[in-house]
Amino acid sequence: MLQKVESEGFLLEAGVEHLITSEGINVDALIEFAKCNDEFIISTELVHRFKLLQEQQVACVEKPVEVERPVFRALASEYPSRIEHLKEHDVSGRSTCKGQVDDFVSLFRDRYRRISSILRLQPSQNAVSSYTGAKRGERCRFIGLVRSKTATKNGHLIIEAEDEHGVLKVFVGKGNKELMGTCAGIILDEVVAFDGQYRDPFFYADSVVWPDIPLNKPKRQIEENLSIAFLSDIHVGSNLFMRDNFERMLRWLGGDGGCARGREIASTIKYIFIAGDLVDGIGVYPGQERELAIQDIYGQYDMLFSLLEQIPDYITTVIVPGNHDAVRRGDPQPRLPAEFVKRPRGNYIFGSSPSLFKVEGFTSLIYHGNSIDSMIASVPGLSYSEPEKAMVEYLKRRHLSPIYGSNHLIPENEDYMAISEVPDIMHMGHVHKNGYADYRNIAVINSGTWQSQTDYQRMQGHIPTPCLLPVYNLKDNSLRVMDFNSA
Ligand SMILES: [Fe+2]
Repeated sequence: MLQKVESEGFLLEAGVEHLITSEGINVDALIEFAKCNDEFIISTELVHRFKLLQEQQVACVEKPVEVERPVFRALASEYPSRIEHLKEHDVSGRSTCKGQVDDFVSLFRDRYRRISSILRLQPSQNAVSSYTGAKRGERCRFIGLVRSKTATKNGHLIIEAEDEHGVLKVFVGKGNKELMGTCAGIILDEVVAFDGQYRDPFFYADSVVWPDIPLNKPKRQIEENLSIAFLSDIHVGSNLFMRDNFERMLRWLGGDGGCARGREIASTIKYIFIAGDLVDGIGVYPGQERELAIQDIYGQYDMLFSLLEQIPDYITTVIVPGNHDAVRRGDPQPRLPAEFVKRPRGNYIFGSSPSLFKVEGFTSLIYHGNSIDSMIASVPGLSYSEPEKAMVEYLKRRHLSPIYGSNHLIPENEDYMAISEVPDIMHMGHVHKNGYADYRNIAVINSGTWQSQTDYQRMQGHIPTPCLLPVYNLKDNSLRVMDFNSA
């Protein structure tokens, strides 16, 4: 190993050889990483940094390198943009809410209709039929919208759930420990199926089923070497917005800066998704004015769009709002109003949050993630440090905001938060922490932030991951994360 490192012109710090061997580190990749960083000494610190970034699937660290470069050939510019905005899933211009009781009734009826139809299509182990026509003692299924969960004084569990016929009490015996554990994951207002026996007045459950994603969902790929880059929570206007890093990333998109491998990745980027919190906003939380560099909402958007002008014009950028943006706080949030958009050069599509797009045939679900706080608080095992796990829970439940009352939800006539279509890509932000998962062939991506740690996050002990740009390649399904933290 020593010979290999020295032949490449690097020096090895004392003790590092042992570290590389014991950690099973790929020496070739480490050497490439050192080159990207302009380092000529392989130090313990460099190895630790490399290891950390490898764990985050980071391809290379961006750092301006003052060497002569070949002309940047943007592969993506050689292909037309193939993106369709699926507007039937977008609330923009379609809001029907008048804030009346009927609106809530319509919303929850539509939720029940959408999710129960997914559950009815699911293959069940014993092909159970509905409880409504079942004979006494026959195993059957009850699909209900969960109203309450109560532990009895004897330690059993009673779940009240509602369907189009009324409310049933689902009984889960404490003796069935496995089912009791599964039921801990049931959250209020979601639609689930219970299998078991119906003996009035109780439904005796022996299993619970979520709508989930089909196990046989195929992985989508295309022939062309094209990629999508993911951004969220830029927070322009905040005095913690990391403008220099953001601009370095924008220049990198156009081939300016970075190592050869990074430039190769940049050349494939045909689309950028931005999942909300474009700006820091005004009056989002008490005392926010003290943390603002730009105290005017129009000024914040002006700066954002003048920065985005650096995006090469062959890239199509999709923008949806977040809770800091100048639209209503409640989900679904309509697209950013035209008055805030200083139309920049290039190709932009503005959608609601959530929005659905077909990009090169990939069904892409983009949602800021306003409801993620209530999911993390309600589902055992979830935390802010692993947002991808919360995102997977949304997919299992086929719903982006199941719990009513814990976050702002506008009662539209139809439930725009239901995940009726199975996506190939699910993109969110909001928690300022990058996270990635592959769930049943769905690329699950949380794209972090471009704002450094706020006082509130410091008090909460939340450590954000700013300036990490995930890039998903549509040809080979690889996910690279570009790090723009270094100076
Ligand atoms: Fe944010």
